[in-house]
Amino acid sequence: MQVTVFSAKPYDRHFLDRGAASGLSLRYTEAHLSLETAGLADGSGAVCAFVNDDLSAPVLARLDALGVRLVALRCAGFNNVDLAAAREYGLTVARVPAYSPHAVAEHTMAIILGLNRKIHRAYNRVREGNFALDGLLGFDLHGKTVGVVGTGKIGEVLARILAGFGCRLLGFDPTPNPACEALGMVYGSLEDVFSQSDILSLNCPLTPETRHMIRQDTLPLLKPGVMLINTGRGGVIDTRAVIDGLKSGRIGALGLDVYEEEADLFFEDLSSQVLRDDVFARLLTFPNVLITGHQAFFTHEALDNIAETTLGNIVAFRDTGAATHSVSVERLAAHG
Ligand code: NAI
Repeated sequence: MQVTVFSAKPYDRHFLDRGAASGLSLRYTEAHLSLETAGLADGSGAVCAFVNDDLSAPVLARLDALGVRLVALRCAGFNNVDLAAAREYGLTVARVPAYSPHAVAEHTMAIILGLNRKIHRAYNRVREGNFALDGLLGFDLHGKTVGVVGTGKIGEVLARILAGFGCRLLGFDPTPNPACEALGMVYGSLEDVFSQSDILSLNCPLTPETRHMIRQDTLPLLKPGVMLINTGRGGVIDTRAVIDGLKSGRIGALGLDVYEEEADLFFEDLSSQVLRDDVFARLLTFPNVLITGHQAFFTHEALDNIAETTLGNIVAFRDTGAATHSVSVERLAAHG
């Protein structure tokens, strides 16, 4: 079976190349999947796509017309796929439900620690021979209240790490996780979690319910000076509102691994180009903002697992007509 792999970087190739041993013919392209590039899938029975590829109805219609039958996502989130359209065209959509919750939870912790102790600023200072400590004051994590919104696989690992630091754990999730409760996490309403958390970590998927969960009218619910961390999906926060929150001081620090408009920026070297996104440019001016470019998943173990599950999905679909980890509209409803 021929598979066109979109948004393919050298590291994707390195881990996916082993698919050849299963008889798959992988055609890599660095191009993002979009209406303009969908034609590259001509002759392929499957496409392999990533977080910022466009899988809206018009793109799925084009893939269907080209004879593609399977969309194999090499990520967990599937907010970029129009599942209703996929069903209409009879396209199977598969994903990697879990590859390493540790990778994302550990990176979330790295952002919390880095932001709190101002490692990003200290690193630059020391390199310039500036050993002054003014402006680098942090706080003990021990005893602080951390709210985790979305206590699934990643939220649970994060809760375990935070428990080790001696944090008090609050949770919000429509489906509370007994493993988190066993760690001492107390579930409450979103308002409770917002108002009591010194650190608020967003680890839920992007759904109609979670879209812009942090916005202009929910900002006043947050504990003044909160450290807000988003490693879920960019659309869970309204970035413009969060900028206002940073300016007013309601948000004391912001750590992001995802950004609403990241599709135009992340995963590319744009260092020689003019940054056209004024909202993102404004975020970069704050000393109390730490941003990474969707790298939380990026560990050796995670990429290894992603390749294994993705190739497994494709081979199972080729051999049986059904992918091992398919996503349907019904599951999306259950998810949200
Ligand atoms: P999961 O499916 O195990 O857990 C998600 C949890 O969110 C579930 O417990 C679910 O009940 C909960 N949830 C659903 N709607 C909610 C709502 N309205 N409010 C609060 N919680 C809600 O997923 P997992 O593996 O923990 O991943 C979570 C998200 O992290 C993914 O959907 C993805 O968007 C993001 N992610 C980010 C990565 C990165 O590199 N930055 C990598 C992998 C995932």
